[in-house]
Amino acid sequence: MKKFIFGLSAIVILSACNSDGAEESVSKNASDMHRGEIVYKQTCIGCHGEDLKGRGSSGKDLSHIGSEKSPEYIRSVIENGTRSMPSNLVEGEDLDAVVEWLSEQK
Ligand code: HEC
Repeated sequence: MKKFIFGLSAIVILSACNSDGAEESVSKNASDMHRGEIVYKQTCIGCHGEDLKGRGSSGKDLSHIGSEKSPEYIRSVIENGTRSMPSNLVEGEDLDAVVEWLSEQK
């Protein structure tokens, strides 16, 4: 009987460790990434590209946007769109985050 209880608690401790470890690595990866970068990857990457340099003629190079344009300009482009870029792709905190992240691309 003692052996059984020992075996059982070993399994409980082991599985608790495993799930803790998994959760930690997931939240670590997510918090390592700027929220704006996550929004960019979800919404903007199709036109502006993984390296922000634009994909052919479908999006502008944003890789130095932070040193070229003000956060206000960036925000207004995202809100209002421009020529072939659609308006209102993101809003609220996602908008704040992507404006902040792009402003850091210098
Ligand atoms: C459907 C394709 C498309 C998507 C999706 C898109 N863009 Fe654009 N974006 C463009 C195009 C095309 C331009 C250039 C428009 C022009 O002036 O001719 C542009 C221009 C911009 C500019 C202005 C660049 C400058 O130097 O004036 C910013 C900032 C920008 N996009 C940010 C974003 C962000 C942030 C997202 C995601 C929320 C996004 N774009 C999604 C196509 C897109």
